Amino acid sequence: AIGPVAELEIVNRDISPDGFKRSTVLAGGTFPGPLITATKGERLNFKIMNALTDPTMLRSTSIHWHGIYQKGTNWADGTAFVTQCPIAANDSFVYDFSTVKQSGTYWYHSHLSTQYCDGLRGALVIYDPDDPHKDLYDVDDESTVITLADWYHVPARSIGFVPPTAVATLINGKGRYGFGPNVALSVINVQRGKRYRFRLIGMSCEPNFTFSIDNHTMAIIEADGENTVPLEVDSIQIHAGQRYSVVVTANQDVGNYWVRANPRPPLGISGFDGGRNSAILRYVGAPEAEPSFVPFPPSSVKPMREVDIHALTDAAAPGLPHPGGADVVLNILPGFDPLTLKFTMNGRSFVPPSMPALLQIISGAKAAQELMPKGSYYELPRGKVVELSLPGTNFLGGEPHPFHLHGHSFSVIRSADSSTYNFENPVRRDTVSAGLEGSNATIRFVTDNAGPWFLHCHIDWHLELGLAVVFAEDIPNAVKENPVPEAWENLCPRYDSLKPDQ
Ligand code: C2O
Repeated sequence: AIGPVAELEIVNRDISPDGFKRSTVLAGGTFPGPLITATKGERLNFKIMNALTDPTMLRSTSIHWHGIYQKGTNWADGTAFVTQCPIAANDSFVYDFSTVKQSGTYWYHSHLSTQYCDGLRGALVIYDPDDPHKDLYDVDDESTVITLADWYHVPARSIGFVPPTAVATLINGKGRYGFGPNVALSVINVQRGKRYRFRLIGMSCEPNFTFSIDNHTMAIIEADGENTVPLEVDSIQIHAGQRYSVVVTANQDVGNYWVRANPRPPLGISGFDGGRNSAILRYVGAPEAEPSFVPFPPSSVKPMREVDIHALTDAAAPGLPHPGGADVVLNILPGFDPLTLKFTMNGRSFVPPSMPALLQIISGAKAAQELMPKGSYYELPRGKVVELSLPGTNFLGGEPHPFHLHGHSFSVIRSADSSTYNFENPVRRDTVSAGLEGSNATIRFVTDNAGPWFLHCHIDWHLELGLAVVFAEDIPNAVKENPVPEAWENLCPRYDSLKPDQ
């Protein structure tokens, strides 16, 4: 693991995490990138050095710190063409987000086109010395991170309009594909009688995963960096961008157990057959072997339902306790345009502007209507409660879209797995599934963070095809409250003049 002040080199490297060698884009040369750990209140400062050379993939980059509010540092949000120009090849840039008041499980990834699908993804954990769960669950170890990722055998930019299908699921960077070799799987070591906090991170470009550990239950205590009332489950559906912390007690016989992350949509050759979509939970004293063949997970009697997850503190949703009881009520309809083969939000497909939204605001844009591209911005006044309804959809194979909002957590007053509203103690998080047709996710948040913030589907192929809008929050104060460093001002001229193979 690396600390809160670090240098990260972004490189191309040939790796074969599933036994198939391919060129990738990596942070620090590994997949996933190095685990970053920090303690609440510390200064986070990352110098990114772009050493990318492979012309078959993007050579510029931009790093997003998923879930970090970036209050006062909107320019460090890392969203290419919303909050910055990309970092050109051979250039470097420092993301300095000073003291972070958040704690929990986060991640970082490229936010330039679909570059993170080529490998640039890693975990970011912020420990809280005063974690309220310490009283509820005195865990013996909270250092385990479990990353769930989809993996592809071709570079993302070689892919046209039809989103590709992943070939493997990598758990902590290891996995198996179709008729590939039986590479060694990731092992999570535990000792019988001890209690663990595992941090699950959905680093997917597309699928959601049903996560379970054979013979073990899990108590969810965190969702997307927000503490929750402990909820005992035996399987978790985790969407692209989402995180959970679970408490697991090693209370079974000493042995090896399958850890499973079954993807939806399924891979080319789906399901489980002796080690695909899986890792191993190994007790101290167990043989260094794979668990015996169990084709399906023991049936789930307590699958997680999002509606059952409740925020631990300050749980009430902002606004009045009825649908529509907010200052600003927005309906944004995801759509698909069969003529252009692009996704739309309220009829507009998001096309990244050449001048980042923040730079447009700095350069004098005073209202959402003045921001390019037209129709993709929603102006939000300061200090208001916003309610946003996101209906479920069934287009393109019927995958639920996981929507992520930058710069905020939100209360999920209606979950996609519920038909009723909860204003009293809904889960708070930063990425929510809108579900399939007939369902609806409705969220509320307070506009307390001036700046342009992305709201988009975290299926990266869908974002690339325009499934995004930008909230232009408190434009009058966005510049004053987010003073940009000089290096930031140099990004666009450098990016233009260096003309990397973008
Ligand atoms: Cu994890 Cu806009 O992203």
